[in-house]
Amino acid sequence: MKKVNLAIVGATGAVGVTIREILEERNFPVAELHMLASERSAGDRVQFAGKNISVKNLAEFDFEGVDIAVFSAGGAISKEYAPKAAKAGAIVIDNTAEFRYHDEIPLVVSEVNPERIADYKKHGIIANPNCSTMQMMVALKPIHDAVGIEHINISTYQAVSGSGQKAVEELAKQTAQLLNAREVTNEIYDKQIAFNVLPNIDVMQDNGYTKEEMKMVWETHKILEDDTIGVSPTAVRVPVFYGHSEAIHLKTREQISVEKVKDLLQQSEGIELVDDMSQLDYATPVTHASGKDGVFVSRIRKDVGLENGIAMWVVSDNVRKGAALNTVQIAEILVKTYL
Ligand code: A2P
Repeated sequence: MKKVNLAIVGATGAVGVTIREILEERNFPVAELHMLASERSAGDRVQFAGKNISVKNLAEFDFEGVDIAVFSAGGAISKEYAPKAAKAGAIVIDNTAEFRYHDEIPLVVSEVNPERIADYKKHGIIANPNCSTMQMMVALKPIHDAVGIEHINISTYQAVSGSGQKAVEELAKQTAQLLNAREVTNEIYDKQIAFNVLPNIDVMQDNGYTKEEMKMVWETHKILEDDTIGVSPTAVRVPVFYGHSEAIHLKTREQISVEKVKDLLQQSEGIELVDDMSQLDYATPVTHASGKDGVFVSRIRKDVGLENGIAMWVVSDNVRKGAALNTVQIAEILVKTYL
C-alpha cells in the first residue's frame, strides 16, 4: 500500500490516542505522522511505531503535504481548521458533528455505506457518524437490506468516555469520593454520574429531545438513505468507562424470523453474535466490547408487543468502532481506492 502523510488533530484526547494505537495495530501505511493538539500540549512526546514524536500546536501547523487529516478535537476546532486542511489538499475525516448534516459531505460507516466515500471530492471532507448511530447502523443494515425497517425504538446506555478524557476522570474521581465518604464534585456533567444515570446528553432541542437523540434520527436517515424510517431515541449516560449499550426494538416492513436475523448478522462484517442465554452468553461493555473492534449483538428475540417486531441488545466500544476505528477504516479505504 502507498504510504501517506497523516495528521491527527486532537492527538492527546480520548479518541486521538486510540487512533494512534489502532494505526499501529493495523500497520497503517504511514510515511509522516503529525500529532496536533492545543498549545498546552505542544512539545509533549508520544510514541509511534518505536519513534518518539513531538506534539505540535494546531494553530501554527501548515497542512501542506498532508494526505489525510483526522479531526477529534471538538466541533469548534473542526469548523475553523478542517476547511483550511482541505484547502491545503488534505482529505479530512471529521469525528465531530460539525459537517455530518451537510448534504454534500458524506457520512460513512465503513461496513455500511463505504461507496459514499467517493463524495469526499466536493469538499475534501468525510464525516464520521456519532458513536451511538455507528453501532446501531452496523447491526441494522443487514436487516434493512433484507426486509426494510419501518421504525426503530432505541434506548442507549452510554459510557463516559464518549464525553472525552476529562469525563473518564470525573467518573473515577466521584467514585473515589463516594467510597471515601467525601463530598461529590462535578465539572463535566450537570449531575453526579457515579452510581447514577443521566438522561441528558448534548444540548436540548426545541422538540424536547436532546441533540444526541436527534443525531440518531438525522444520521440514520442519511446513512440508510431513507427519510421514511421512524426513529424514537432516548439517550442515557451511565457510569461505565468504555462501551455503549443499546436496547433496540424494530418494526420491519416485511416479516423476518429470529433465526433469519441471527443468520444475517452472523455473516455480516464487523458483527459478533453473542447470543446463547442458556449459557448466559450475552455481551456487556466490560466483558466483551471494551478495547475490542466488533459490534456485539445479543438477546435477539421476537418483540412480544409489536407485529413484525424484533428486539436486540447491541454493545460496542464507543471510542473504537464508535469513533477511532471507523476513522482508520475510512482512511484505509481512501488509501486503497482513492489515493
Ligand atoms: P489538549 O490535550 O492540548 O487540550 P478529549 O475529547 O479527550 O477531551 O480531547 C480533546 C482533544 O482536543 C485533545 O487532544 C485536546 O488537546 C484537543 N484540543 C482542545 N482544544 C484545542 C485547541 N484549541 N487546539 C487544538 N487542539 C485542541
